[in-house]
Amino acid sequence: MVFILRSYDEISGDLLRARYLLPGESGYCDMCRRVAGYIGACDEEKNEFEEIMLSKKFLPNSPTLMNAGSGKGQLSACFVLPVGDSIREIFETLKNSAIIHKSGGGTGFNFSSIRPSGSQAGFPGGKASGPVSFIKIFDSATGVIKQGGRRRGANIGILDVDHPDIIPFINSKRAEGRLRNFNISVMADDSFMRSPDDGILEIIAGNIIRNGEPGILFRDTVNRKNKVPGLGVIDAVNPCGEEPLLPFESCNLGSLNLSEFVSSGEFRYDLLKKSVRTAVCFLDNVIDKNRYPLKEIEDATLKTRKIGLGVMGFHDMLIKLGIPYESPGALQAAGGIMSLIESESVGESRIIAEEKGAFPAIGGSIWEFPVRNATTTAIAPTGSISLIAGCSSGIEPLFGLAYLRRHLASREYFIVHPLFSKALDSGFLKDKSGIISEAYSKGSISGLESLPEDFRALFKVADEIGWKAHIDMQAVFQDHVHAAVSKTVMLPEHSGTDDVIDAIYYGWRKGLKGLTFYRNKSRRDAVMTTGDGC
Ligand code: CDP
Repeated sequence: MVFILRSYDEISGDLLRARYLLPGESGYCDMCRRVAGYIGACDEEKNEFEEIMLSKKFLPNSPTLMNAGSGKGQLSACFVLPVGDSIREIFETLKNSAIIHKSGGGTGFNFSSIRPSGSQAGFPGGKASGPVSFIKIFDSATGVIKQGGRRRGANIGILDVDHPDIIPFINSKRAEGRLRNFNISVMADDSFMRSPDDGILEIIAGNIIRNGEPGILFRDTVNRKNKVPGLGVIDAVNPCGEEPLLPFESCNLGSLNLSEFVSSGEFRYDLLKKSVRTAVCFLDNVIDKNRYPLKEIEDATLKTRKIGLGVMGFHDMLIKLGIPYESPGALQAAGGIMSLIESESVGESRIIAEEKGAFPAIGGSIWEFPVRNATTTAIAPTGSISLIAGCSSGIEPLFGLAYLRRHLASREYFIVHPLFSKALDSGFLKDKSGIISEAYSKGSISGLESLPEDFRALFKVADEIGWKAHIDMQAVFQDHVHAAVSKTVMLPEHSGTDDVIDAIYYGWRKGLKGLTFYRNKSRRDAVMTTGDGC
């Protein structure tokens, strides 16, 4: 088979041209200038924002990159909408979600208010069709609306574990291809986790092994750590899970590319501190520049002024520092960096509050001093912006060292990770193409005993890293994040339901707000693939 080898720059360029650039813009620099010019309130801010984006140290979420200064102006990625039990309320929510998707955002819903299937509905003798039937309608509607005409909207459908329709819900994505525009997640509380219905856990785990869904969310952990408990209980999150939000709340995200903070083998904490401060100003400005798709969303968002600053390029950073992902050093680096981002972001939010005022709902919050934003930190998946920045996504370990990536619907690219390629060159290793070929066909270089052991440890990929190490990493980040962490716990191909159940308990005990899994090679329709092991 002949593959076309593509560099990260080429992929980023294709993606920008297809989805991000406005007429008249020729590339990344033009986009950065437009966005910084729109979000900055004065020349000094505009210059700082432009610099941090041009140097690829920071990028805001896709809607900001696509819409800032375009005349459309909806800049947030994350929304949660309430769902009522009447036809009028359900379809009102569907209409609102279509408006949000059209503007570029993704929507999360807890469908538990909808009465169970088979119960009384409408006129006497009428039977309710239950939450899963309505989720199918939401899914179809999403399929016909492209976000801002550029990509399909993302959704998460959530159901409480004690809802009578929980089993059909858990099984609703059993066959690959169903509910294509939805992630699904079960909302479990502590009492379920303490004395679970083993049958339900088995069904959850069985479906996860089949194709990675449902995810699981921990309601009590989310609410114990809710920064504004006075506004009510949180029972939903945005589509990839990094933002637990109240009904009608929205949040804009931004991510620091940690890989760009390594120079000459050293991590530059001084530069990171400065960049965190700039990024917080940027994201807080976005709240005021934003054109909200609905009045209720504007009101709820301006009450708490949540922003979600996170990271991407974490694994690339570790590789540059010579630290294997599955190691105590990696956990230590994660904790040190994220606690610094948390404290600096709160420090900056406090300074902005002195000038512009604290977020209006601060009276119902846990904050003991004025801050501008109810939350400052979240870890997004960075699925697209990491491609634009040319770094590993979020806090995920690399999926592969040489792999095929389906991109922009039809094209398939063969990619060799640039740090891997560079390391092969600088190690003066003979037979570079043989090593790359092994990395593609086997999905890993662990079997190449001719390579030094520390080299193989440094380049371990996601499914070679044990589930405990995935969860430990998520937990270290969660400890320093106000919102939540988007992370997929990658399971090796041979994993079983016992592994999943153990992992769910381990994650819950570690204080995670939720968990998402994927068993390697379990979906035929995967975005990234390595060879078949031959
Ligand atoms: O990289 P990018 O900024 O495009 O997004 P991400 O970090 O992968 O995802 C952040 C959030 O954007 C998700 O949790 C969703 O809320 C939203 N999203 C969406 O609405 N539609 C997509 N196709 C992808 C993400």
